[in-house]
Amino acid sequence: MKVDYLVIGTGVAGLSFALKASKFGKVCMIAKDNAEETSTKYAQGGIAAVMYDPDTYAKHIKDTMIAGCELSDPEIVRITITESTARVKELVEWGVDFDKNRTGKFDLAREGGHSEFRVLHHKDETGLEIEQKLYQKAKENANIEILENYFAVELITQHHLGVKVTKHSSDICCYGAYVYNPHSKKVETFLAKITVVATGGIGNIYGNTTNPRVATGDGVAMVHRAKGAVRGMEFVQFHPTTLYNPNERPAFLITEALRGAGAELKDWHGNAFMKKYDERGSLAPRDIVSRAVDHEIKISGESHVFLDARHLEKSVFFNHFPNIYSKCLSIGIDATKDMIPVVPAAHYSCGGIWVDKWGKTSINHLYALGECSSTGLHGANRLASNSLLEALVFSHRACEHSSNLLPNIDFQEGIQDWNAEGTVSNEEMILVTQSVRELQAMMSYYVGIVRSDHRLQRAFDRLNIIYRETEDLYQHSEVTKPICELRNMICTAYLIIREAMKRKESLGLHYSIDYPPKNNE
Ligand code: FAD
Ligand code: SIN
Repeated sequence: MKVDYLVIGTGVAGLSFALKASKFGKVCMIAKDNAEETSTKYAQGGIAAVMYDPDTYAKHIKDTMIAGCELSDPEIVRITITESTARVKELVEWGVDFDKNRTGKFDLAREGGHSEFRVLHHKDETGLEIEQKLYQKAKENANIEILENYFAVELITQHHLGVKVTKHSSDICCYGAYVYNPHSKKVETFLAKITVVATGGIGNIYGNTTNPRVATGDGVAMVHRAKGAVRGMEFVQFHPTTLYNPNERPAFLITEALRGAGAELKDWHGNAFMKKYDERGSLAPRDIVSRAVDHEIKISGESHVFLDARHLEKSVFFNHFPNIYSKCLSIGIDATKDMIPVVPAAHYSCGGIWVDKWGKTSINHLYALGECSSTGLHGANRLASNSLLEALVFSHRACEHSSNLLPNIDFQEGIQDWNAEGTVSNEEMILVTQSVRELQAMMSYYVGIVRSDHRLQRAFDRLNIIYRETEDLYQHSEVTKPICELRNMICTAYLIIREAMKRKESLGLHYSIDYPPKNNE
């Protein structure tokens, strides 16, 4: 396969890039599941953007910087927020339908850390609306081919021409990817002039996550193995309110917008507890609310806390949160009469593949977009509903940048075929599935919302064992999706633990009992 643009991932980042890049060349998109099975599809709350008075770019910038504990890159924050209005208008032109109020203006919601109502939404299924509309447009586009159930295994660089590449090499170049074809059952060479990694999140390295099963950190791991730069991986965002429904995977999200509409977190005695932790109460930034919920669960010894939305008008549920209402009802909870049991769950990776303000990675001709990337927007903690926005803004910028390079790039010759010599079919899936379970338990207990040096060291030591066993298995096994995913999850976990061990302070989403926050937060 030879193509101008190879886009790995069919969520909001990959699709919005592909729709634009298709004006400049042929695009091949690959998804490791069906194309719509993405985190994008599950996004509920919406997309943050400055639309009307009294909101201003300055206010959204300030909220983003505060949520990010001032670790966000101010220039990237400025770019993202000031380009928000244009990107949202473009989504509307592409057919995305955001709810409007009686006056015909967009019905803006409010979420934690936002000083204004600025979240555009489509009921409580904003992501589904975006994914479906963009996917439909991509399917109709003659310059875009979408391959479902194809799995990107490794990025191709000079390493596959027999040249030594290290993380200190300054001129690493990407020539495409080795991709597992489910029909031929072989790993094939996909050569591309421009390669885009838009592989989404990492949630499945934890026991409880809102992320769909596709979120196993593949892009981050592939770029790390290709010697590209990765940063900020210690900042894993846990969403404070997912429905407590043991064994459901992914965990069902109860959107923060419900708290924005007035729902309150309560303990087992029916007491609202958030004001004990932060004057902003249930709408404090997510790191603070998740830690508070975690603490309440630990001191009560119970498995969850509650979100009380009983006082909201029924019409609020029916008009804005119908999906949440019916999901709760399906497990016997009438949210207009009963409190909703909730627990935190791994939700979003604020770190990822380092990119510049054009979405370009440290490797030439390779871009990273969406959740797998680290633009510098989120700093130590992401402001709610800023991620769909980030994906749109940097997909646009990456297309502008890469389309200028495209005419001067040729397909690389001399790339070695995938070497499957000496590998056999792995007849014992338990060797993979049990390692996944061990990894998830270890990450949840030792590298979760609250950490310590001791827990991190334990996690590191245990990970090392799983790593060695898995590498040995991988060297002798035919390539399959489960073993590749396990490898990628181990690599991602390693990057999180390594960065967390280096950070000798509590900051934003990285909270260590050994380094209490300086401001007594
Ligand atoms: P995704 O949408 O996750 O797409 C990833 C793609 O990569 C998939 O197509 C997958 O198949 C493909 N892929 C991965 N690995 C491989 C591989 N090895 N080979 C081939 N293909 C691969 N953000 C907001 O801003 N507002 C919200 O309201 C909001 N709500 C959320 C609710 C939930 C439940 C979740 C989980 C997230 C939410 N987020 C929200 C976060 C946001 O949805 C995600 O960050 C964003 O959608 C990620 O988009 P993406 O395009 O980067 O990746
Ligand atoms: C939510 O709807 O609470 C999730 C929003 C987000 O993750 O940005």
